[in-house]
Amino acid sequence: MKDGALIVFTGDKGGVGKSTLAVLLTEWFLSQGKHVRLVDADPNQTSKTWSEKCEALGYKVNVPEAPVTIVDTAGTSGSSLNQYIRRADIIVVPFQPHVADLETVVGWFLSINAELQRRVVFVPNRLANTKEQRDGLQELRKVLQEEGRGRMAPGLSNRPAIYPPLLNGRKDNFFTRGRAGDRPHRPPLRRSGRWKKRPPEQARIIPLQYGTIRFYTIRYKT
Ligand SMILES: Nc1ncnc2c1ncn2[C@@H]1O[C@H](COP(=O)(O)OP(=O)(O)O)[C@@H](O)[C@H]1O
Ligand SMILES: [Mg+2]
Repeated sequence: MKDGALIVFTGDKGGVGKSTLAVLLTEWFLSQGKHVRLVDADPNQTSKTWSEKCEALGYKVNVPEAPVTIVDTAGTSGSSLNQYIRRADIIVVPFQPHVADLETVVGWFLSINAELQRRVVFVPNRLANTKEQRDGLQELRKVLQEEGRGRMAPGLSNRPAIYPPLLNGRKDNFFTRGRAGDRPHRPPLRRSGRWKKRPPEQARIIPLQYGTIRFYTIRYKT
């Protein structure tokens, strides 16, 4: 990716995962050792709140002079076609592949000019592999083919357990969490050709607090 890249999350719908995906992409760049400038152009300030919480916990996520800028926008028509969208190198449009959502998403895509359409990447979010969703995805594929512009990414499944703590702010990276160096080495589970259950006395339950959400993780003695 060239220096000074501008990636804008937008679309005409609220609550489809723009902020969640903007945050996840920020975390991905950070996990690759790249700095990111995260701009929150949504009055709701979801991603700004997230980055401030992270930074309060000692995890630096926003570097103003970074070569990659990620912009999280509001999901409202008209104003969503803001200065960032016009200048964007990549326009990411998360959507939930329901028929009702698709009408809005397709309507928005057909309303922007061809030059902008070329930069659009649709990301199906909260995928559940239902017939309704499969039909919806097929519909959008048809539109993209007919227009000859725009692309569709593979998408994200519905993972309610992961996203609330993510948007709540955290002190480590979603993509590097649990890799070597971040936690003690865990011996392989598989021994002498069959799966062996770990003895329970080696397990430790560790409470974790992300913002207001508290949950537990299991660690094993090494
Ligand atoms: N893949 C997903 N699985 C489960 N929940 C999700 C997923 N993506 C988003 N959410 C949840 O949906 C809600 C809206 O997401 P958000 O990113 O704030 O949308 P937007 O910025 O488009 O308004 C949030 O509560 C978020 O945690
Ligand atoms: Mg948002």
